[in-house]
Amino acid sequence: MTQVGIIGAGPAGLMLSHLLHGQGIASVVLERRSRDYVERRVRAGVLEQGSTDLLAASGVGQRMQREGLAHDGIKLRFAGEEHRIDFRRLTGRGITVYGQQEVVKDLITQRLADGGEIWFETEVTAIEGIDNNPRIAYRRNGDEATLSCEFVAGCDGSHGVAHAGMDAKSYERSYPFSWLGILAKTPPASNELIYAYHERGFALHSMRSPEISRLYVQVDADDTMDAWPEARIWDELRLRLAEPRLQPGEIIEDGITPMRSMVMEPMQCGRLFLAGDAAHIVPATGAKGMNLALADVKVLAEALTAWYRSASRDLLDHYSDRWHG
Ligand code: APR
Repeated sequence: MTQVGIIGAGPAGLMLSHLLHGQGIASVVLERRSRDYVERRVRAGVLEQGSTDLLAASGVGQRMQREGLAHDGIKLRFAGEEHRIDFRRLTGRGITVYGQQEVVKDLITQRLADGGEIWFETEVTAIEGIDNNPRIAYRRNGDEATLSCEFVAGCDGSHGVAHAGMDAKSYERSYPFSWLGILAKTPPASNELIYAYHERGFALHSMRSPEISRLYVQVDADDTMDAWPEARIWDELRLRLAEPRLQPGEIIEDGITPMRSMVMEPMQCGRLFLAGDAAHIVPATGAKGMNLALADVKVLAEALTAWYRSASRDLLDHYSDRWHG
């Protein structure tokens, strides 16, 4: 029996496990993939101030503070005309360019150093007894077993099992376009992110490091990579971003992401609580998904801490309301 069974070793599950450990609450993280796989999965890359604060305050922010690229604003371009939004001046806050997989690596390292349990290559097949006696059924090395716990955190992403069996409604919207994203070996053409509106569609200039750029163009919802040879990608980026310093470079990763939104209401049922992509998906802009995932588990960790400290169910009962209310 563990206190909290956590499904998924993405940013949500790992940060929850780490925050609970800081409060003396034991958890087990069950993750379908290998450690190597989750540490290499390239996804979001920008941390909002709330996320950098959370990483730093909980003791896993050292590498981010050393290696992350701090930005004080972004550039919006409308048909080539620039408007810089100065976050620092307007809000006193900023963003940090630091890859999701780096956050995942830092959290795994810290959890293992603290003696935390992360069961990789362990696939959860069902969650039972969520009203009073939760059990997580899983498969590992061909064997089937169950883990009993007091609470279950479904941090298993948008294709996970946690939300499937919940008595909750999902609200969804699909947008009539997708984003083609590339990771390219070329220095960023600007020191900040550029969000460009253009009559041919949106484009985004972002970066992962002083040598690697992350670039996106809006494409039709049914487009495949076959329709986008490299030369066409660079031509569209140049045109839409209107950024003369943009230089083509070797494309080391590419893919087309559909734009969709989904939110579950409520995000909890009995002793099962959803967090991160399992509870809501937003289009992949501004790394909102990762930042929301971290914000969710901060709230959930506070609620579980209140329960274990003082047997108060109030914060747990109102977990969903703190988002939807
Ligand atoms: N059993 C065990 N693990 C599972 C199962 C299962 N049945 N189903 C999914 N998982 C694991 C996935 O392999 C993945 O590692 O759950 C994890 C969920 O992690 P993420 O998808 O990263 O979700 P989350 O932690 O909510 O983070 C949200 O992820 O979608 C991206 O970029 C987006 O930044 C956002 C972030």
